Amino acid sequence: MTYIDLYGKDLITTQEWTIEELDFTLEFAKELKRRFYARDLPELLKNKTFFMLFYNTSTRTRASFEAAMTFLGGHAQFVDVSTTRIGEGEVIKDTAKMYERYGHGLGIRVLESAVDYVYGRGNAVIREYAKHAKIPVINMADDMYHPCQGLADIMTVQEKFPKYEKKKYVIMWAYSNKIRSWCSVQEEALIMTRYGLDVVIANPPEFDLDPNIYEICRKNAEESGGSFEISNDYKEALEGAHIVFPRSWASHQCVMMGINKFGKENELALHEKYRDWMLTRELVDLMDKNSIIMHVLPVFRGEEATDEVMDGPHSVIYDQAENRLHVQMAVLALVMGGRT
Ligand code: CP
Repeated sequence: MTYIDLYGKDLITTQEWTIEELDFTLEFAKELKRRFYARDLPELLKNKTFFMLFYNTSTRTRASFEAAMTFLGGHAQFVDVSTTRIGEGEVIKDTAKMYERYGHGLGIRVLESAVDYVYGRGNAVIREYAKHAKIPVINMADDMYHPCQGLADIMTVQEKFPKYEKKKYVIMWAYSNKIRSWCSVQEEALIMTRYGLDVVIANPPEFDLDPNIYEICRKNAEESGGSFEISNDYKEALEGAHIVFPRSWASHQCVMMGINKFGKENELALHEKYRDWMLTRELVDLMDKNSIIMHVLPVFRGEEATDEVMDGPHSVIYDQAENRLHVQMAVLALVMGGRT
């Protein structure tokens, strides 16, 4: 094991951490998970404060970060941005410098309606905080990336498939009448190609993601020994797959133009064209017999996937959600913990 010092490091996407840094974090998350079940967690963050700025809503991210800080002896302060001076025009620089004086880390969620679905705007906001804050900034989901979700998901894959390399991982666009950002699916494609899985993104033609991310995924796959493909045929993609993640996301045109210019009605009409893109038991039957179904949650039941498959024997969604807690304890301790 190589020991790596991550103190003070921002986490904006897993792609910006080396594979050694990711391995070290995942090993530490697994150690903390063992200690969690042994009721033996160390107070690595005693008297430390993590500020969590939410421009958007959250169930898991807020709860798991807050619990992670409590388990490690520290405190998480939940900040609904609408209750701050930011909406009155206080600039990011002043906000970031102030949190830097009060605490030890800063988490930010900013995506979707908070940035009118204009691609890259949320990520730019997080990078602006990171530019000014001397304390580490953790991306709690922006419009491009969701690094803690990606870490929890590769940890889940490693737990379920000890020999995970070359397993076929299908990220399947799925119908819903909600308009969801690209962060989870892009982070997933990045980290799974990094770890040598055979990643296929299956989506209707109007729902292609960021071509720059595709390029990075191809490069990741070349380096890791995995592969990366895009398909418009979900049935073919699911043949023999080991893992599927059925997820709705916004169309390419919607996030390139922004929802205000493209129009919510136009976007939802596009989704309606593909109502049959729903994960059902018949589709799961096309997959490997030991396949697993993953989802970052929330899942739109009866739209993205049926209750039967989400509650069935292949589903690992609650184990996956739990791993958010363990990887975030590891990330927080490593970037904020220090040596004392
Ligand atoms: N997966 C995830 O980020 O969930 P929340 O939106 O509930 O935080």
